[in-house]
Amino acid sequence: MWKITENSFDPKRLRHFETALTQGNGYVGTRATFDEHYPGEQRTTFVHGVFDDVPVVFTHLVNFPDWTALDIILAGERFSLAEGKLLEYRRRLNLHNGVLTRFVRWESPQGHVSKLIFSRFASLANQHLLCQRVLITPENYSGEVRIESRLDAGTDTMRYQQWNWLDQGVEDGSIWLRLQTSATKIEAAMAQKVFFSGGSEAEILMPNVVKMPSICTSCQAETGQTIYFEKFSSLCTSRECEDPKSGSLSILAEMAQEPWEAAYAANEQAWQKEWDRNDVLIEGDAEAQLALRFSIYHLLIAAPRTDEQVNIGAKTLSGYGYHGHAFWDTEIFMLPFFTFTRPEIARNLLSYRYHNLPGAREKALEGGFQGAQFPWESAGDGREVTPTWVPDPADRKSLIRIWTGDIEIHISSDIAFAIVQYWRLSGDDAFMAQRGAEVILDSAKFWASRLEWNPQTSQYHLSNVIGPDEYHDHVDDNAFTNYLTRWHLHTAVALAEWLKTYDAQAASLLFTKLGVDEQSLADWATMADQLYCPGENNQGLIEQFGGYFQRVDALASDFDPRTESVQSILGIEGANASQVLKQPDVMMLMYLLPELFSHETIQANYDYYTPRTDLTFGSSLGPSIQAIMATRLGSQADAYENFMRAARADIEDVRGNASDGIHGASAGGLWQAAVFGFGGLRVEDDYWYVKPHLPAHWKRLQFKFVWRGQEQLVDIRAQEEQS
Ligand code: BGC
Repeated sequence: MWKITENSFDPKRLRHFETALTQGNGYVGTRATFDEHYPGEQRTTFVHGVFDDVPVVFTHLVNFPDWTALDIILAGERFSLAEGKLLEYRRRLNLHNGVLTRFVRWESPQGHVSKLIFSRFASLANQHLLCQRVLITPENYSGEVRIESRLDAGTDTMRYQQWNWLDQGVEDGSIWLRLQTSATKIEAAMAQKVFFSGGSEAEILMPNVVKMPSICTSCQAETGQTIYFEKFSSLCTSRECEDPKSGSLSILAEMAQEPWEAAYAANEQAWQKEWDRNDVLIEGDAEAQLALRFSIYHLLIAAPRTDEQVNIGAKTLSGYGYHGHAFWDTEIFMLPFFTFTRPEIARNLLSYRYHNLPGAREKALEGGFQGAQFPWESAGDGREVTPTWVPDPADRKSLIRIWTGDIEIHISSDIAFAIVQYWRLSGDDAFMAQRGAEVILDSAKFWASRLEWNPQTSQYHLSNVIGPDEYHDHVDDNAFTNYLTRWHLHTAVALAEWLKTYDAQAASLLFTKLGVDEQSLADWATMADQLYCPGENNQGLIEQFGGYFQRVDALASDFDPRTESVQSILGIEGANASQVLKQPDVMMLMYLLPELFSHETIQANYDYYTPRTDLTFGSSLGPSIQAIMATRLGSQADAYENFMRAARADIEDVRGNASDGIHGASAGGLWQAAVFGFGGLRVEDDYWYVKPHLPAHWKRLQFKFVWRGQEQLVDIRAQEEQS
């Protein structure tokens, strides 16, 4: 159960498959567009951390010159699926080794039939290497097979030209190109080399066309003769390489004798090593098995292995959605997968927040606060990059004000939460002392300055915020935000105490740097105690925010049948005025801090909020969390329904927006739903245990995780669960 397959070509699903079959290696991500182009495609190659300025949305991942493009001319006719007749078509992404293969039999407008087999991968063994191969067999004709390949400096990013061309050339049998981003001044170099065999002696030309160095290869092929075309591209940037041009050329110069076979084997081995650590085995449910591996694959290809200055965007490196910006999606949804299976990667991702403390401090200061306030959307340098206005999809001429960058402030605590979770699992005291503590303490300082004292209630409050449920903005005392803030302040005080004993000198240096002293710690503890966190009402319910219960009551199902979100139906104001939620909010709180709530309270809130949550067309972040909470309450049918909703998000494109890129949070949430939900894994301070709740038809669930540096294996069989 390792292969995602497309058995026939449907142009209507072009962009969906481009996203779903995206390839990558944690450094670069390339959508699965056709080598030879197709109308309406969205060709992108993104590299982590390579952003440049664009109007309105501030900054965007830059679209790199396309390494996959090939013009294939067969006996004078251009190969294109938009013309001629498609006799056979199969495409397959092998999740086990990241290789994408396409098998095509095509009849040209003049009746020439050719068989073409395309394969490509972004090497996991060498993240700067991109490999591609085409085998072409003329079936009923003989003639010239000509393939033209290039590095094109003219790539745009949603119609914005972000590259400045620097230089190009031909060297050691490779073409190369140097570019620089316009505003951020990141230099990139790409090189390319091809091998061509199988027909008459090949002719290779390397026209050094300005801004488009190219390689043109051609030969004569007889009927039934297979032509082998192999192409290797390399890519380096000034972010990680002193001299990107030499870096990319040397990768190609060092290629082995049989370059395709060698690169293929190295890539396969690297993937094997990954899956040995990360695979989750499900027996008895082929669809769930494939979907979970698909999600893990997408997390793995987006995961920075060698870079602590980058994060994973909400849509990974697989599409234009959200411009490559990172949200709380990383810390709360994707990060647990890495924390539990690849702590080195989790450390990199959390270090990104540490390195970007200056941006968070800037944001706090701009708002008139102290300490560090993390941006709702973050990109290259950690400053707030949430767009303030976006075009209204219903009327492109008007604009919608986006408030999340101003008032969705819970992200600072989400980051603290993820750091503590990583620390608990890994026992990485050095990370906590050197980096984590600074993040948590400085953002606690932000909270202390942000809390509002109300003499009437003699309590602190947080007004004018957005909680996880974004259908409701400008709300006061959002339960999720307030409880997480209280947790954050208490955690910061305890952490400061720990640091004093762990490394007194480091503690003293840090306190001086942040302007934190014993009095601040005492104040934080008092503020946490005096922060209003809504308790249960007489029905056992926690009010999502002040006045929520006064909003117009409505259930998500009141709007069924439908193909769009409740917000699209009611409008922004209408949804805000109703009780329908975009995604779990109180449930999200109970997921993260379960120890604060009794089983009965969780049940009462689950029963109330679930039917009011837009789980089908609201946020893709909702279903996996809902599934976990359902497993904890023994609602197996609901749990499975929501698990599969998350599982199908991108494979089936249930929301119709998979073309924008993979829903990274849903992928991470799916792993959590399998492991923490059905697997029932719970981690305490000094031990872990499982309390499985397998769906009735699952025969087995097996997964691994790393606990204090040691690999742990959990193997749950259906019979064992019943015993
Ligand atoms: C969700 C947010 C999420 C963002 C990026 C929004 O639709 O409501 O919770 O962070 O998408 O995925």
